[in-house]
Amino acid sequence: MDQMSLREKVGQMIQGSIASVKPEDLREYPLGSVLGGGNDPPLSGNDRGPASDWIATADAFRAVSLERRPGHVPIPIIFGMDSVHGNSNVFGATIFPHNIGLGAMRDPALIEKIGAVTAAESAASGFDWAFAPTVTVPQDDRWGRAYEGYSERPEITREYAAAMVRGLQGTPGESRIQDGHVAASIKHFLADGGTFGGIDQGDARIPEQTLIKTHLPGYIGGIDAGAMTVMASFSSWNGVKNHANKSLLTGVLKGALGFEGFVVGDWNAHGQIPGCTNGDCAATFNAGLDMAMVPEDWKALFDNTVKEVKNGTIPMARIDDAVRRILRVKFKLGLFDPARPFEHKEELGIAAHRAVARQAVAESLVLLKNNGGLLPIRPGAHVLVTGSHADDVGLQSGGWTLSWQGTGNTAADFPGATSIWAGLKAAIEKTGGTATLSAHGKLTGPKPDLAVVVFGETPYAEMVGDISTLEFQPGDKQALAELKALKAAGIPTVSVFLSGRALWVNPEINASDAFVAAFLPGSEGEGVADVLVARADGTPNADFRGKLSFSWPKNAAQFANNLGQKNYDPLFAYGYGLSYADHTRLGPLSEVAGLDASLANVAKYYKPGRVLPPWTLGHAGAVTIRNVDGGGTQEGARQFAFTGPGSVTISGPVIDLTRQSNAQLSLRIAYRMDAGSARDLHLGMGAASLPAATVFSAPVGEWSSVKVPLSCFEKAGAKMGALSRPFVLSGSAGVTLSVADAELDADPNYAMCPKDGAQ
Ligand code: BGC
Ligand code: BGC
Repeated sequence: MDQMSLREKVGQMIQGSIASVKPEDLREYPLGSVLGGGNDPPLSGNDRGPASDWIATADAFRAVSLERRPGHVPIPIIFGMDSVHGNSNVFGATIFPHNIGLGAMRDPALIEKIGAVTAAESAASGFDWAFAPTVTVPQDDRWGRAYEGYSERPEITREYAAAMVRGLQGTPGESRIQDGHVAASIKHFLADGGTFGGIDQGDARIPEQTLIKTHLPGYIGGIDAGAMTVMASFSSWNGVKNHANKSLLTGVLKGALGFEGFVVGDWNAHGQIPGCTNGDCAATFNAGLDMAMVPEDWKALFDNTVKEVKNGTIPMARIDDAVRRILRVKFKLGLFDPARPFEHKEELGIAAHRAVARQAVAESLVLLKNNGGLLPIRPGAHVLVTGSHADDVGLQSGGWTLSWQGTGNTAADFPGATSIWAGLKAAIEKTGGTATLSAHGKLTGPKPDLAVVVFGETPYAEMVGDISTLEFQPGDKQALAELKALKAAGIPTVSVFLSGRALWVNPEINASDAFVAAFLPGSEGEGVADVLVARADGTPNADFRGKLSFSWPKNAAQFANNLGQKNYDPLFAYGYGLSYADHTRLGPLSEVAGLDASLANVAKYYKPGRVLPPWTLGHAGAVTIRNVDGGGTQEGARQFAFTGPGSVTISGPVIDLTRQSNAQLSLRIAYRMDAGSARDLHLGMGAASLPAATVFSAPVGEWSSVKVPLSCFEKAGAKMGALSRPFVLSGSAGVTLSVADAELDADPNYAMCPKDGAQ
């Protein structure tokens, strides 16, 4: 540290993203760290590239950071990744169940193994640091990150935090990157799971006692196990942003808890502190943040921070404390030793690792209903396997899988993985039975002895997953219809429900003879068959050992009914889970949801065939609306024909899309220009109206789709915090446009602000 200049010290405190920082930038801006964001590819540009692409990326940054050049002290960069359920951003890796499923296992020894495998696969991809484990204690199941928590209770979380840190980091003082260990990051400090209304990045309005009893224990477990880093939370506690909370970051964490590692920020979270921007925020460093995560504005933050040290806004002692902490972690982790044996080892998705994940899948299953002892599936049975999620590793893996949201993944994205269907088929055939896969429960051939229906939520991450009702699939009861049709045909049904949270599924449970909560199992789908299918002699192959780590709701409005609360009255209590020895018969459950489902929808405005509640379509001026074919559906689209100035508006309740805008979400529209020129159209949200010439640019008569970032509307004056018209199209005489789909989209690829193409 004595040899380091102020610029070199400040550099250590700044982390940019590999999508924005180039290795050569480190010569002028000697940053201490880079991260790969959920959607950031390696430098090769190939997001589905092999581990060697990521190693090459790591090497390129590391090489510049270690260069010997005048005025520079060679200090290795630390490369962080969201290895949150395995090395889950890298093609070919072993994907573990998300934390909600792991919580149900009640198996800290297996957690430690999962940590060790995750570390080995991450180190073998060039990463030094996993942004894991998440030790949040989610109190409201509407939260889009509920699945990242092990439990609604702190006990499991504390024990697991310690086990996961031991697994990732190994033995304090001994294990290093050279033997396949990486730094852990317990996150998000503090009470990210306690926010009011289950709103992501929201405010935990809770007394200090709750903060300590419910939300702190995970940190105590993780720090005692030697956690090298802690990530601060986007959220606030009683109105104060955690990134600005000196009493928590410095007083509690570094003082009372004796944390000696460093505190990293979350994605531009410092920019949300009043008075700060992404590129300027002395307040966060003064509060005790040691390293800011500033994916794009790292140059500005660097320059401003240097200035603020020089003018005394940030004391030099604070900088020295932060840098000392960061360097200590780098030393302990072995980063100063150039040897990287793990970068030459075959570690990704190897059989031994997949076996650990498969065991975790089997242990995480929770049996909620087994009327008549339908499970296990008897030897020689003829089984129909169906449901949207039966043969889809992407859907069974959820968010934070190969991309931030985990959406759009296909079978080809998961070499070596096994779907739930593939696992069932192999196990059933081994006992002399037969298994048939059918897309939507369609019956062909002889009547099966039973049907397994695999269905559930589609992937989401962070605020994109926030919902306002716990009702499963409000307004779209496809799985229920399939179950009912099978029942009507006299076929016993087993539901395997994949979800990131406990949801109200009473109608689906009623339509099932057996019901298994399987959460988000990841890449090793055979783990499901290991428990569901009996051995050839008829005895269970493995029993259910999963017990709920979250209480299961009795109705769609029971958002936050957690063990230990007054009026605790769930459908299935914390700790519930049948085993094969139980012969409990579950009677019919109430099918009254107790909450208007239309409240749920802030993101989907128009889908083929209909405007989705609570939204309605209106128009003003010289425009006519009629139904036309589109979106793969007869009469699936609406055609807007302008004969003079006019507008078409989708409107509804006042919603808040601030977080969606900050997170670069877009308004996606599937459209077809039918006549005239897009130059005569404007696309708007709320008060903003943008020229649409470059938006609807596909040739006349062709269906196409376009994404406009919400931030474009925000810059043009839309009030994202209070929006009641998420879609406004205005036009003038002679232009006709059809729309088949209008909704928010979290994939930033190909999203662009409209250019003024009027001339
Ligand atoms: C998330 C963190 C994550 C980080 C880097 C943030 O948006 O809240 O959990 O580690 O991004 O991807
Ligand atoms: C990051 C997330 C982040 C999101 C917001 C993703 O690429 O991985 O952590 O919150 O972008 O834009």
